[in-house]
Amino acid sequence: MKAVICSRWGNPAEVLEVQQVPAPVCGPGQVRVRMLASPINPSDLFLVRGQYGYQPPLPCTPGFEGVGIVEEGRGLLAWRVRGKRVAVLNGKAGNWAEQVVIPAKQAVPLPDDLSDEQAASFFVNPASAIVMTRHVLAIPRGAWLLQTAAASALGRMVIRLGRKYGFRTINVVRRERHVEELRQLGGDVVIDSTQDDLVERVRSICRDGVRYAIDAVGGDTATRCVQALGHSGRLLLYGSLSGEPLSVEPRQVLTNNLRIEGFWLSTWTRQQNPLRMLGLFRHITALFRQGIVETTTSAVYPLEQLREAIVAAETPGRAGKVLLRLGKR
Ligand SMILES: NC(=O)c1ccc[n+]([C@@H]2O[C@H](COP(=O)([O-])OP(=O)(O)OC[C@H]3O[C@@H](n4cnc5c(N)ncnc54)[C@H](OP(=O)(O)O)[C@@H]3O)[C@@H](O)[C@H]2O)c1
Repeated sequence: MKAVICSRWGNPAEVLEVQQVPAPVCGPGQVRVRMLASPINPSDLFLVRGQYGYQPPLPCTPGFEGVGIVEEGRGLLAWRVRGKRVAVLNGKAGNWAEQVVIPAKQAVPLPDDLSDEQAASFFVNPASAIVMTRHVLAIPRGAWLLQTAAASALGRMVIRLGRKYGFRTINVVRRERHVEELRQLGGDVVIDSTQDDLVERVRSICRDGVRYAIDAVGGDTATRCVQALGHSGRLLLYGSLSGEPLSVEPRQVLTNNLRIEGFWLSTWTRQQNPLRMLGLFRHITALFRQGIVETTTSAVYPLEQLREAIVAAETPGRAGKVLLRLGKR
């Protein structure tokens, strides 16, 4: 079969290659999935650059999520998904291949009315958006949430979740055209960080500072988020898109009782029992049907055009997710 191979860490457009490799063999409690599509997410690119929180041994195949059809399975859990189209949750990476073997419990059956494009991004961003806002921060109705990288696929889900569950969003973007776009989507306030002062704008809305914030950028943007927090404010750091560290004034943290925490979906999911995960999968499916956690796709590339796909995924300001087409129905 064909698979994307990473033999050394570095610039994804340079180090990734499509190679012919032996098909994986399905063991007890596992399923073998014929892959249909997988998105190129920031986490996949960080992994290839050697900058992710988890690094598999080399050579490896990237790809943390995707959609495919279960062709073979061993064990009771595998039996329930045999022949079905599933979301392929692969915390160990490896989905950018024509076939993948994963534990059966990580193959989530999908409803027929979900397109392959939507199904390819079924879990990572929807689950993170839901878990951060509803479970970890548990933002009450009427409260304000400050979020950075708000034009991202995940950021747009957070805006729609705010509309549904009644919390209000202050959205930080770095591109003028996203201001009106996110307002149309339902963002209550949109700040262009290249034009406006983030802290001043937040304090003009929440005089004593904001209670909840989530940041995927790091660096100066995250530093400004800390400065915009009010008493007992909480900031979740869930991404590092700038690659820069943030700077924190200890006095502000201790006198205002601030909490600056990390959020990583892998850690959160490891701490949940199967019933809680089942509840989350059902919640995601219901929210997909309401259009709340859908992802816009900007382009779909076949494996043969891997390099073009990577370049498109790394182009700033792109209009949606780039998907790899790994097989046909
Ligand atoms: N912790 C977790 O468990 C977890 C789970 C899921 C996702 N994430 C993180 O969530 C973030 C969003 O993921 P996604 O798939 O939704 O992303 P995406 O759709 O690929 O969008 C990325 C967005 O980030 C913006 N951006 C990139 N570099 C930036 C920088 N240096 N400064 C400011 N903005 C920048 C881009 O802005 P332009 O449009 O202006 O280029 C774009 O809007 C990523 O950091 C990802 O790693 C974390």
